[in-house]
Amino acid sequence: MWPCSFVPCLFVFLWSLPMKRSDTAFQRCINPACGAEFDCMQAIFKCPRCGELLDACYDWDKIEVPRRMNDFGKRWANRQHRLDFSGIWRFRELLSFCPDEYKVTIGEGQTILQLNDSVAKYADMKPGRLYLQYEGLNPSGSFKDNGMAAAFSHAMMTEAKSCACASTGNTSASVAIYAHSCGLKCTVFIGQGRIAFGKLSQAMDYGAQTIQILGDFDDCMRQVQDVCSRLGIYLLNSLNPFRLEGQKTIMYRIIEQLGWEVPDWIIVPGGNLGNSSAFGKAFAELKQLGLIKQIPRLAIINATGAGTLTDLVNSKNLLWNNGQVEQKIIDDYYADLTSRHFSPRTCASAIEISRPVNLKKCLRAIDVCNGVVRAVSDEEICDAKAVIGRYGLGCEPASAATVAGLKLLRTEGVIAPDERVACVLTGHLLKDPDVTVGYHKDKKGRFSNPPVEAPNDLEKIVELVKG
Ligand code: F0G
Repeated sequence: MWPCSFVPCLFVFLWSLPMKRSDTAFQRCINPACGAEFDCMQAIFKCPRCGELLDACYDWDKIEVPRRMNDFGKRWANRQHRLDFSGIWRFRELLSFCPDEYKVTIGEGQTILQLNDSVAKYADMKPGRLYLQYEGLNPSGSFKDNGMAAAFSHAMMTEAKSCACASTGNTSASVAIYAHSCGLKCTVFIGQGRIAFGKLSQAMDYGAQTIQILGDFDDCMRQVQDVCSRLGIYLLNSLNPFRLEGQKTIMYRIIEQLGWEVPDWIIVPGGNLGNSSAFGKAFAELKQLGLIKQIPRLAIINATGAGTLTDLVNSKNLLWNNGQVEQKIIDDYYADLTSRHFSPRTCASAIEISRPVNLKKCLRAIDVCNGVVRAVSDEEICDAKAVIGRYGLGCEPASAATVAGLKLLRTEGVIAPDERVACVLTGHLLKDPDVTVGYHKDKKGRFSNPPVEAPNDLEKIVELVKG
């Protein structure tokens, strides 16, 4: 439970708008002992009654959901229609919380699933079995745009005027680009020295007010919630249930590109645990709607320097338990982090998070998807990243945790070599050039490819190029 002092300030989130209950969608507290329901016109982000997370929920009987997944694919033929062009809104019946006139798109979700036998070999998988879902192709270069298209639509629907987020970098870049297109004032909170330069440069260039806090992401996350509740600012972190609705579509696109079949495994990096939560919800709903027969298994990969989920699930046996999560295990764990002045550290700065806000939704996703959780070292992440770069489309360190995690799960025999696996590459290679240059230039790893110094002399250069 949240401290009592926290609950009253939640009410400040409520916009003073008429409470028009949508016919088809509403918000519901994930805590089954509470289960309070709220209109989608409220921007509340945590249950005002008990402080738990909220879900976007649907009266499916009132929504004309296509009978087969294939029907969504037909919209590709109608790409001059802005909602059919968007890789999020193409699936709009599955996230039907908002009238079309408020739906925001900047062309997100045109991402691809790449079959990659070279990376498969590295991870000890058979050819034809490993796919990389490349979310770096989004307008701001990361998967976040999936969530922002949906959350900014909600912001427009609720007449928000200004927005904010805490970020390890990608959220801030994505929020900044969408805020500009929606005409919202935008403030992003980042931890001093904790953000990759590619991402920081985006937030500044897209015109966001960038506040660097002397602390880590978890400090920023705490501050931004208080700032938003005090000033009535729209919050765009993954606490926002509408963001996760957009992120569900990453799974729809994977299925689409597999000819509307589900893979055996989805592997995703774990940071604030929004993606993993969204993926679990996506599959639970598709199964409920009869659109898929089988739910894939989910593997969530932490960096060892930010391994809260791994510790809680694998060492402390924390479970969803039908929503009766043992809060004491979490409280004790966080109290220990505080007493040790622990701050997470990993080269995968995107997932350098020790108090993931979506922890409980993620536990539910693990339950739904028979999921597993693992942590991989920075060295494993950097090696996997170099392999993905050499043979694939390139990605940032956090994304490479997926392939490093797959390699580990192959070693353990948890994943079989002939199972079909989709790793979600969450961010573009150019987001974090420092880690890449450091790895190659300083010959830090097995796959380092350092530049060769040459005198400004044609003959010597020709010798070098000949090898
Ligand atoms: N990969 C990348 C590239 C990310 O930027 C993030 C999160 C994650 C994975 C983890 O995803 O939070 O859904 O578990 N980045 C956030 C940010 C925290 O502020 O940009 P998650």
